[in-house]
Amino acid sequence: MIRHDILNLLAEHPEDFVSGERISQHLKVTRSAIWKQIKILQEEGFEIEAQTKNGYRLLKTPLTLNTWVLKQALTTTTLGSVIELDDVLSSTNDRAKELARLGAVHGHVVLANCQSSGRGRLQRQWESPRGGLWMSVVLRPNLSLADASKITLAASVAIADALRGLFQIRIGIKWPNDLIYQGKKLVGILGEVVGEWNAVQTLIVGLGVNANFPREQLSNSLSAITLQEILGYEIDLNNLTAGILKHLEIELQLLENNGFEELRSKWSERAVGIGEEIIILRGEQVLQGVFRGISIDGALILETGDGEESFSAGEIQLRSKLNSYF
Ligand code: BTN
Repeated sequence: MIRHDILNLLAEHPEDFVSGERISQHLKVTRSAIWKQIKILQEEGFEIEAQTKNGYRLLKTPLTLNTWVLKQALTTTTLGSVIELDDVLSSTNDRAKELARLGAVHGHVVLANCQSSGRGRLQRQWESPRGGLWMSVVLRPNLSLADASKITLAASVAIADALRGLFQIRIGIKWPNDLIYQGKKLVGILGEVVGEWNAVQTLIVGLGVNANFPREQLSNSLSAITLQEILGYEIDLNNLTAGILKHLEIELQLLENNGFEELRSKWSERAVGIGEEIIILRGEQVLQGVFRGISIDGALILETGDGEESFSAGEIQLRSKLNSYF
């Protein structure tokens, strides 16, 4: 794409002006064609200084998602090898599933600036206004069906670590894979298996980060929080995406190569509520007990008067008895 070629040229000389003539010679297009493209880039949020005598200089890249900026920030080897960015999608998970059925490779990433019918766990809707990070990743890992829920646990550890690394904030994981800050939900993860899980195992990991918007835009604003609110400024969604993909790649490799044990202890260190009284809801049923952590297959272990029972993520909801942290 010509706009990307222009950006590549400008990025090669971060402090300097690059003359229109040089760009036009290099890309074999007219100077007025270049000026048109520069204007489009400026509308996309690139700050490009234009001086008649000296040419163009790239000053700032947009904080909103942009494939060129994202590719510059990416440090992964497989995740993000293909990136699709749409302005509006019904759900990035649905789009990723469709692409997976058409043969999308491991690491194919789907992003949307907003979603019109974003989906959450337990058939809930997921509100996805502009400014959030709504992303799905197609994964074809070297793991079995029994590992599907471990992959979403890995994703929760990865995102918590990415947020901590980028913004020095401490994020807790609420079982199975909600990320919370001071008791309020910041990130949700929805893992979905595509088709038959046999020869080629395909999983979609969808994640939603409440990032650059005020939480009042959400109808459940009392139990949600956004990064903008925590940090007091707008963050670079491209950097955030790159950071999350990097950590996700690391955690997946660890799971594939070393098994679940290491991930289980990482998850447990970041989890909230272990050792405390909790209430879990299974349909109409309400169960009470002490949260003892997760089993070797990622299920929640609840200790009741009758001993220990484990629950998998699909069937239940978790509540704090004291209502102090979630
Ligand atoms: C939850 O906490 O219930 C999970 C929320 C997952 C939301 C993300 S946003 C990107 C992807 N597309 C969707 O429709 N859902 C996930």
